[in-house]
Amino acid sequence: MKTVIYYFTGTGNTLAIVRDLAAELGDSELVPVPEMMRRQEIACDADAVGIAFPVYFLDLPEIVEGFVRKLRFTGRSYIFGIATCGERPGGALFSLQALLEEKGQALASGFVFVMPENFIGPVDLMGDAPHRQDKYAAARGRIAPVAAMIRERKQSLPEGNPSAILRIGGKITRSLATTLYNTPRHLRATCRCNHCRTCERICPARNIVVEKDAVIFGNSCTQCYACIHWCPQGAIEIGRRTAGKPRYHHPDVTLADMLRQRGDA
Ligand SMILES: Cc1cc2nc3c(=O)[nH]c(=O)nc-3n(C[C@H](O)[C@H](O)[C@H](O)COP(=O)(O)O)c2cc1C
Ligand code: SF4
Ligand code: SF4
Repeated sequence: MKTVIYYFTGTGNTLAIVRDLAAELGDSELVPVPEMMRRQEIACDADAVGIAFPVYFLDLPEIVEGFVRKLRFTGRSYIFGIATCGERPGGALFSLQALLEEKGQALASGFVFVMPENFIGPVDLMGDAPHRQDKYAAARGRIAPVAAMIRERKQSLPEGNPSAILRIGGKITRSLATTLYNTPRHLRATCRCNHCRTCERICPARNIVVEKDAVIFGNSCTQCYACIHWCPQGAIEIGRRTAGKPRYHHPDVTLADMLRQRGDA
């Protein structure tokens, strides 16, 4: 009855959810997506396979898309999706369903967990501490019923918005938002940086190199905001949009947990 849950996380929300879910399910293994991305192909034959990720601009993170394309199912797995988001899951789980269909696989079920927002935008979406606590409590309350659905191998429509227009819109939104907010292009380290290399070690896309007197961002950013939220000096900004805004990570997830995601020795 083994369950393998592949997960991707930028600030720990998704990891916190899949940890609780794995504990509830029993006989489960958590496997980080960034570590798997070093492989050409990822063979998988578990009885149940979960794919867990945060929603970015109503869609899947690019790194998760790349990961699903590398997956090769060698048995008849029950496949479920877990999407965490701030409020609006859009068609992210339907995008996952479509990707799996391209591989001749079906998404048996897909669940949305609403968690604190880690996007730093023009307006505050993160909310205050009581608001975040409410979200953690509501999400915890969903763990047992979701685990029961998975254990019973229930088939259900993925949660979120199934509209094809929204799904196509999601791709456009992601691309437009990427252009509009320019996260990859506008990332920069300020003079607060003390060259500790945390950002280089945490970046799931291996997109950052810290040199003696510079932090260099490459072109493969997956927009997870991990570097921004986990920099101990609060030294990473996206243009001027993030200046003075609070940073976030899930309270039960540590920097060590995050560093393990890449599977570096
Ligand atoms: C670039 C970016 C885009 C996001 N887009 C959405 C979105 O479209 N809808 C939403 O509800 N939350 C959105 N979020 C918020 C995250 O999905 C949410 O905070 C998630 O739980 C973060 O998970 P993590 O801590 O595992 O990285 C976005 C976050 C980022 C960084
Ligand atoms: S984590 Fe922050 S302080 Fe450390 S090297 Fe990166 S930008 Fe500089
Ligand atoms: S550069 Fe920063 S935001 Fe981009 S993928 Fe790396 S850690 Fe995430």
